[in-house]
Amino acid sequence: MKLKKVSALFIAAIMIGTVVTGCASNPASTTAVNSTESLADQVASAAESAAASVAAGDKKIVLGFAQVGAESGWRTAETASIKDIPSKYPNIELKFSDAQQKQENQLKAVRTFIAQKVDVIAIDPVVETGWDTVLKEAQQAKIPVIIVDRSVDSDASLYAAFLGSDMEEEGKKAAQVVIDKFGTNPCNIVEIQGTVGSSAAVGRDKGFNEAIKGHDNIKILKVQSGDFVRAKGKEVMEAFLKSDGDKFNCLISQNDDMAVGAVQAIEEAGKKPGQDIFIVSFDGIKDMFQLMADGKSNAIVECNPLLGPQLAELSMAVASGASYDKVTKSNENVFLQNQAAAELPNRKY
Ligand code: AHR
Repeated sequence: MKLKKVSALFIAAIMIGTVVTGCASNPASTTAVNSTESLADQVASAAESAAASVAAGDKKIVLGFAQVGAESGWRTAETASIKDIPSKYPNIELKFSDAQQKQENQLKAVRTFIAQKVDVIAIDPVVETGWDTVLKEAQQAKIPVIIVDRSVDSDASLYAAFLGSDMEEEGKKAAQVVIDKFGTNPCNIVEIQGTVGSSAAVGRDKGFNEAIKGHDNIKILKVQSGDFVRAKGKEVMEAFLKSDGDKFNCLISQNDDMAVGAVQAIEEAGKKPGQDIFIVSFDGIKDMFQLMADGKSNAIVECNPLLGPQLAELSMAVASGASYDKVTKSNENVFLQNQAAAELPNRKY
């Protein structure tokens, strides 16, 4: 990532921007600039004044964050990481909105941020589609937008940057775990998917299906959404067990919370999760690592929710005109059951 430490640059650029804007709009201010000073000196002194200004709390950027909701342990961890931004980056003021898993609420939140003239808008989109109009509105208002965690299907020219996971890659990693485990033996899968239309659900499904192509022993028998929610994951697994209990030996759960619910349902049905049914889930929350350490699940494909610091750095770069990467994807691991006990104490969410 090019964003090494943009904080200092950001301060300078904001101040330079202020000076330049001031010069353009108020000719009197040009007389304040010493014409014998070199441009470099003027820039340096502008940066110093800006630093002093930021230190004094005069110049902040306002970041509006449109969150998905509070559907999972992953989401709770991401929200905490985002809400921690102002304590780590005092020059950033955060406005936070929780859409309760509804795109219409997110659209309203983004329009409110535009009306409030925030400096940067970050959207963690509930679903992939339906963002073009509001992104164009933000662009017309000259407010840069950063897409976080889940992606959108809009043209990349409509937003400044993307920061988050490669969901297709995660799906491929899950498939590889299954391929490694089952080899040429029969693998009959039930899949609990996340929120319909979310890039997390669409991407993981696409990656998984692509990767199992040609492995004729691996079959997906049933697919149903559990909306990334623990209680719904349990309900879906109860239904699968009722209708097809004897037919499947593998569960792909598109997040850990739904897998935790599914494990409960499997145990209540008198079966052994992690033994009778091989389980692969996504995220890497502590609850799931504990279940894996207890032998009740088999693999986790990690998805990183701790995006706050990167979002802060990116917001400052975007707001100040410093260089930044258009796309920043998280580095994520796969953890197998035999690694769970050792990894559990290291988990941060
Ligand atoms: O977008 C990330 C996904 O959303 C996580 O896998 C899931 O737990 C969350 O709700």
